[in-house]
Amino acid sequence: MRLLTTILPVWIGLALAEDGSRGWLRYAPVRPTGHNTLDVPSTIVALNSTKISPVFTAGQELRNGISSILAKNVQVRADGCSNSSAVIVGTVDAYRAAYGDVKEAEALEDDGYLIHSTPDKVIILGCNERGALYGAFEYLSQIARNNVTSGVHVSNPQAPIRWTNEWDNMDGTIERGYGGASNFFRDGYVVDNVTRAAEYARLLASVGINGVVVNNVNANATLLSDRNVEGLGRLADAMRPYGVQLGVSLNFASPNATLGTFDPLDPKVDAWWANITNQIYKKVPDMAGFLVKANSEGQPGPLTYNRTLADGANMFARAVAPHGGVVMFRAFVYDNHITYANWTSDRANAQLEFFQHLDGKFDENVVVQIKYGPIDFQVREAPSPLFAALHNTSTAIELQVTPEYLGQNCHFVYLAPLWKEILDFDLRAESRPSKIKDIITGERFKRPLGGYAGVPGAGTNTTWLGSHMAMSNLYAYGKLAWDASLGSEDILQDWIRLTFGFDQKVLDTITDISMRSWPAYEGYSGNLGVQTLTDILYTHFGPNPASQDNNGWGQWLRAGNVTIGMDRTIENGTGNAGNYPPEIAEIFNDVDKTPDNLLLWFHHVPYTRRLKSNKTVIQHFYDAHYEGAASAQSFVKQWESLEGKIDKERYEHQLFRQTYQAGHSLVWRDSINEYFYNLSRIEDESNRVGNHPYRIEAESMDLDGYKSYVVNPFETASGFTAIVTTSNTTAGTATSKVPFESGTYDVAVNYYDLFNGTSTYTLDIGNRTVATWKGDNEKKLGHEPSRYLDGHTATRITFKGIKVSKGDTVRITGQPNGIEPAPIDYLSFLPPGIVD
Ligand SMILES: *[C@@H]1O[C@H](CO)[C@@H](O)[C@H](O)[C@H]1NC(C)=O
Ligand SMILES: *[C@@H]1O[C@H](CO)[C@@H](O)[C@H](O)[C@H]1NC(C)=O
Ligand SMILES: *[C@@H]1O[C@H](CO)[C@@H](O)[C@H](O)[C@H]1NC(C)=O
Ligand SMILES: *[C@@H]1O[C@H](CO)[C@@H](O)[C@H](O)[C@H]1NC(C)=O
Ligand SMILES: *[C@@H]1O[C@H](CO)[C@@H](O)[C@H](O)[C@H]1NC(C)=O
Ligand SMILES: *[C@@H]1O[C@H](CO)[C@@H](O)[C@H](O)[C@H]1NC(C)=O
Ligand SMILES: *[C@@H]1O[C@H](CO)[C@@H](O)[C@H](O)[C@H]1NC(C)=O
Ligand SMILES: *[C@@H]1O[C@H](CO)[C@@H](O)[C@H](O)[C@H]1NC(C)=O
Ligand SMILES: *[C@@H]1O[C@H](CO)[C@@H](O)[C@H](O)[C@H]1NC(C)=O
Ligand SMILES: *[C@@H]1O[C@H](CO)[C@@H](O)[C@H](O)[C@H]1NC(C)=O
Ligand SMILES: *[C@@H]1O[C@H](CO)[C@@H](O)[C@H](O)[C@H]1NC(C)=O
Ligand SMILES: *[C@@H]1O[C@H](CO)[C@@H](O)[C@H](O)[C@H]1NC(C)=O
Repeated sequence: MRLLTTILPVWIGLALAEDGSRGWLRYAPVRPTGHNTLDVPSTIVALNSTKISPVFTAGQELRNGISSILAKNVQVRADGCSNSSAVIVGTVDAYRAAYGDVKEAEALEDDGYLIHSTPDKVIILGCNERGALYGAFEYLSQIARNNVTSGVHVSNPQAPIRWTNEWDNMDGTIERGYGGASNFFRDGYVVDNVTRAAEYARLLASVGINGVVVNNVNANATLLSDRNVEGLGRLADAMRPYGVQLGVSLNFASPNATLGTFDPLDPKVDAWWANITNQIYKKVPDMAGFLVKANSEGQPGPLTYNRTLADGANMFARAVAPHGGVVMFRAFVYDNHITYANWTSDRANAQLEFFQHLDGKFDENVVVQIKYGPIDFQVREAPSPLFAALHNTSTAIELQVTPEYLGQNCHFVYLAPLWKEILDFDLRAESRPSKIKDIITGERFKRPLGGYAGVPGAGTNTTWLGSHMAMSNLYAYGKLAWDASLGSEDILQDWIRLTFGFDQKVLDTITDISMRSWPAYEGYSGNLGVQTLTDILYTHFGPNPASQDNNGWGQWLRAGNVTIGMDRTIENGTGNAGNYPPEIAEIFNDVDKTPDNLLLWFHHVPYTRRLKSNKTVIQHFYDAHYEGAASAQSFVKQWESLEGKIDKERYEHQLFRQTYQAGHSLVWRDSINEYFYNLSRIEDESNRVGNHPYRIEAESMDLDGYKSYVVNPFETASGFTAIVTTSNTTAGTATSKVPFESGTYDVAVNYYDLFNGTSTYTLDIGNRTVATWKGDNEKKLGHEPSRYLDGHTATRITFKGIKVSKGDTVRITGQPNGIEPAPIDYLSFLPPGIVD
């Protein structure tokens, strides 16, 4: 292993349009100072000239990549003699047929590749055609990172199933997608233009993803119409050159419309599915398989007919088996009408209740797909105990790349550390090493199938996910699905080099922001395993802890005025701790042994209970929220330090989001702290909570055309009250005298930016107009919309370095628009170095 050049490359990619559409596959030029270039042959031999072959794709990709990165003229050929300089790419079989044996190839497994690299000759071989393409992408990545490894490098994936689940609806929307509309569907049909589908498959293939389920798990039977099946064929054709197989989600009740039943044990139903499955395979001969969400959140399923979930899964398994297909059956089955008053009811127990007794009853081509935790993609969960309970059933882990409960790509959270914590968790099944990453590969319980299902939420936005930085999550998802032993930071840094180039400061800064991003978000959202304290009944975006208790959904905090947390103990609680194998159960069942970060997941304790850190629970809440929000402020400064070091387009796009996040982190901080202060009445030892000396509450200003408005939930307004215009057409003003000493301040305005309305605001101080802005975040951000003044719409804008004299008149004028009554919460006059 050596670097072929040690000279620092100069980044010259700045002139390229950086709209994010090429993701990490930018093939930006690497031009070492001096005149050396990486020693790469200029002939490519791709051992298959069929256009749909991934080997052919590999040849094209190598040509495009090498010519772009190294500014070199490169040609592709279908053959070449064995002793001339070339990059040869193909399957092992094709290579053997053309050139004779290659010994190292014996180590290759399905989808695996080897790269044998010398300055003069590079041989890239796949166990299959797709493997050859993976090898080509890896080699190009090495060139793009200016770090070509010489010698022989063999890589096999750890899991056979490395899929994405796109939650695209047939109407063109994407459930939990924050980057625009569907790439696959519009107005009830598969799109005609499959260019984006192909571009997406290219990105996915470059990180080893081999399957894409194109429609939402909340599936619609209209997917199976003749016109849409035809369309599925088109999508599959677009993705096939990248070795990406198409899969589809099914609505369990699809046959109901024609047969009047969907009983999985009714032979008519069985025949119906066999027929439609055959129809799909006619158009998509290599379809990967089906994904099924049944008897979950109102979806139909086998329980309607008193059949087991295994009966349901096996019906599909029988239909795809002759075609080599797989059925991914979701374990996300629970009753969403459980009784809050019952101390021992627990949604987290549902998976075991529904699936444990079915272990061994699923057909061999069924994979039970399990979310990483027993509830629903929270900021932190205990790992799902189901992974340890199924020994005779293949399993896969479901990870959300789209951060539904982690800021919806308007906050940036690098998720690989969260995933790694789950994947590396040792469940000690049968008191033996049982890391989740070894269970889902099939290794631990000797299962033939298993792997990963990631939910990216990629849309038509040029950034794919709505945020450039969020793409590190898609990249990391693929890399971990291939090899879960990789380090979060190593994966990240490769992505940074590919995405933003080689500047050391860029690398260090983005690494630091990314690695601190999950702790920051956990800090200001929900601590100690209490879950993301968001509004679970509405948008899953901003704060609203009260929404979690007192309903049937079971995402409970059990937050009272003295105590908080779910009692999941065996003796006195829901018994969930006992769902884990004995060595783990013993830890989680014991309040003293449970790690602080999962304390409230497993135990119901007083706010005054002391943690291992010796802080009380409530003080930990307060401190963590202040620390997390402070991190979010520092991310803005850190990002700003990169100005000029990355292209303006992506710099500005991300700066807007980091700034938004910093403001919204304060909304989170204050809401959660106010909420728990009001519940517990326990003072913050540092006297910050409820104490904001730099603020002017809008409701305390002189109002003309504005009126006070009590916000719900109360904690999402400073002082629980905001102002709204009295008319929905006429501007209002709020006026006050500046009570602060004369000086230079950063002036922040907290207001509410509702969906469906673009209010205009003007801020005047003294005789000057400081700023005019519009409440148009809904056009820029892409998170779930809200139509109310609440924790989702609360936002902040800051004007820096404003000279202010004591006694100046400060006036905000708000012009309402649509349903948005120019709502304002408060103003903050912040002396240098203070953010509040
Ligand atoms: C070339 O690619 C096509 C399409 O993938 C495949 O059917 C064929 O078997 C390949 N030929 C060889 C020699 O690998
Ligand atoms: C270059 O690649 C080698 C082998 O993968 C790796 O160990 C090393 O850390 C890489 N260096 C850089 C700067 O990425
Ligand atoms: C298809 O979509 C691509 C990518 O969005 C676009 O560039 C192209 O113009 C479209 N083609 C047609 C014929 O609309
Ligand atoms: C399925 O799609 C059709 C046509 O778009 C729509 O009328 C129907 O409500 C959808 N059904 C479900 C269950 O989403
Ligand atoms: C099945 O069809 C019947 C009418 O034949 C209808 O009443 C029922 O709601 C349907 N069930 C589902 C889950 O679509
Ligand atoms: C099989 O499915 C196709 C397409 O939906 C339909 O046209 C055909 O009638 C079905 N055949 C049977 C025997 O159900
Ligand atoms: C459902 O099936 C179980 C087991 O086969 C049986 O004991 C029970 O009576 C059935 N219930 C109904 C309502 O059919
Ligand atoms: C409370 O819930 C548990 C677990 O679901 C159940 O076994 C028990 O019967 C319930 N108790 C009452 C009184 O409903
Ligand atoms: C979509 O992309 C455009 C251009 O990159 C960007 O301005 C806009 O903010 C994006 N929209 C969302 C919802 O991310
Ligand atoms: C807690 O609430 C109960 C009843 O809701 C009330 O009686 C009690 O005084 C409250 N305790 C505190 C510390 O506020
Ligand atoms: C035991 O459960 C009861 C509810 O049944 C609860 O009120 C109490 O706090 C729990 N005790 C402990 C020590 O957690
Ligand atoms: C924990 O904090 C309490 C209150 O400040 C203090 O009295 C106690 O000595 C501390 N315990 C330890 C082990 O530091």
